[in-house]
Amino acid sequence: MMKYRFLFLLLGIIARAFGQDSDLPNDFLKDTFHKQRREKLREKLPANSVAVFFANPVRNRANDVDFIYHQDPDLFYLTGYREPHAVLLVFKDMQPASNGNYNEIIFVQPRNVRAEMWNGRRLGDNGVRTQLGISPAFNNRDFARYGIDFSKFDKILFFDFKNDVRDVASDSSDLSDLIRQFKIKIKYPDSRNLVLQKEPPPTNLDTQGLESIMDQLRGIKTQEEISLIRKAVKISCQAQIEVMKAIRPGMSEREIEGIHQYVFKKYQAEDMGYPSIVGAGHNGCILHYIDNYKPQITNKELILMDLGAEFHGYTADITRTIPVNGKFSEEQKLVYELVLKAQEAAMKICKPGTSFTSIYQATKEIIDKGLIELGIAKPGERHNYYPHGCCHHIGLDVHDRGPYEVLEENMAITIEPGIYIPENSPCDPKWWGIAVRIEDDFLVTRGGFEHLSVLGPRTVKDIEETMKLPSPLDAFVLPDLDKTEKKD
Ligand code: GLY
Ligand code: MN
Ligand code: MN
Repeated sequence: MMKYRFLFLLLGIIARAFGQDSDLPNDFLKDTFHKQRREKLREKLPANSVAVFFANPVRNRANDVDFIYHQDPDLFYLTGYREPHAVLLVFKDMQPASNGNYNEIIFVQPRNVRAEMWNGRRLGDNGVRTQLGISPAFNNRDFARYGIDFSKFDKILFFDFKNDVRDVASDSSDLSDLIRQFKIKIKYPDSRNLVLQKEPPPTNLDTQGLESIMDQLRGIKTQEEISLIRKAVKISCQAQIEVMKAIRPGMSEREIEGIHQYVFKKYQAEDMGYPSIVGAGHNGCILHYIDNYKPQITNKELILMDLGAEFHGYTADITRTIPVNGKFSEEQKLVYELVLKAQEAAMKICKPGTSFTSIYQATKEIIDKGLIELGIAKPGERHNYYPHGCCHHIGLDVHDRGPYEVLEENMAITIEPGIYIPENSPCDPKWWGIAVRIEDDFLVTRGGFEHLSVLGPRTVKDIEETMKLPSPLDAFVLPDLDKTEKKD
């Protein structure tokens, strides 16, 4: 018997080395990372409490096609689990059970041969135990009958529900059912039924407290996270460099977007952290322009490109603004250098202890003064040429969780001043259509910062020099589709 057990063990190891698992990258965050994050969460939880996290819903795109699934970043951070229809409970204290005490528990979608044949592999409860190291783990259909007396906790912490989750009729333990069952268990006061409810609502429900706990945790990056952010940033810088080399007047915004994305995928980035913003000329003035529809970028335009590769869950956020023809015009250069000066001023004070507000103020003062000097804005008048903030955390979300008070060591942030002058602005029309944002990613260090996106050319000189370099895409010429015909 021992001999067979050994044989199975050996076969298991060989299968893991050469079989299914070898199809996966081996540099994902480890189970030890997620376990440590759950421990840190537990330390921050109030006495006699439980924190509850649900998976993100599956979103339908149209008919039989769903949007690509993206896990809820808090649940991913705490578990590494990337599938839908799950709920995680992290308890402050050990919970007694006849088969062993536990201080966390997860319910996940079950293995299913047919579903996996159509839609991909599932870990199931067993995989969650063995590969993610979370125990106990159960199938989600066990959640309804699992006996947890929620009334005994002083606090049940969870993020309030948004009522935008579909109930899959053929599945009685999908996310919608898990939420419904949870609401019953905790006696959640449903605002629509409040008048019908006989008992007063429980006093131990807390939909506010988890936010600041998760902000504190996720706002300070661990070394494992920093190395993934570094990778995402490096990939994104390279994507910007390749576009600088390849761009020619006459290309479309969509093609530029495609070059970025090819570079992302070439380096194994799974996704974009957000839809790429590729806006030529006036389109650059639309802050979150993601249509990227312009079929031909014209010779004298600037193009604003705001993008971030997402690598193993972590995203970069980098903006470069470049002249399509490789040379900034006089007006473009003046505005560009003003934005750069604002960014440099912010970088000078980027260190632990500086407030997020003062970083913004540093950029705003420079931009306000510079716009008046250039005659774009009038002294004493409010303008709308710099309509956004300048700094946010990056991580699992592009606008990541984190405290927004003062900078602390190992925060990963952006600094992103910008000036946008849309058509019909109250200034000389020679400025119209100039939109410049310069956005870089930084790690706050003990003595100041590490400029993570330093590889992305940023000065006028560096951009113009990079744009002179040959591109491998010069040789990648596709046929005109109107002229391609199938020959028999
Ligand atoms: N890409 C969105 C932002 O820069 O905040
Ligand atoms: Mn940003
Ligand atoms: Mn951005």
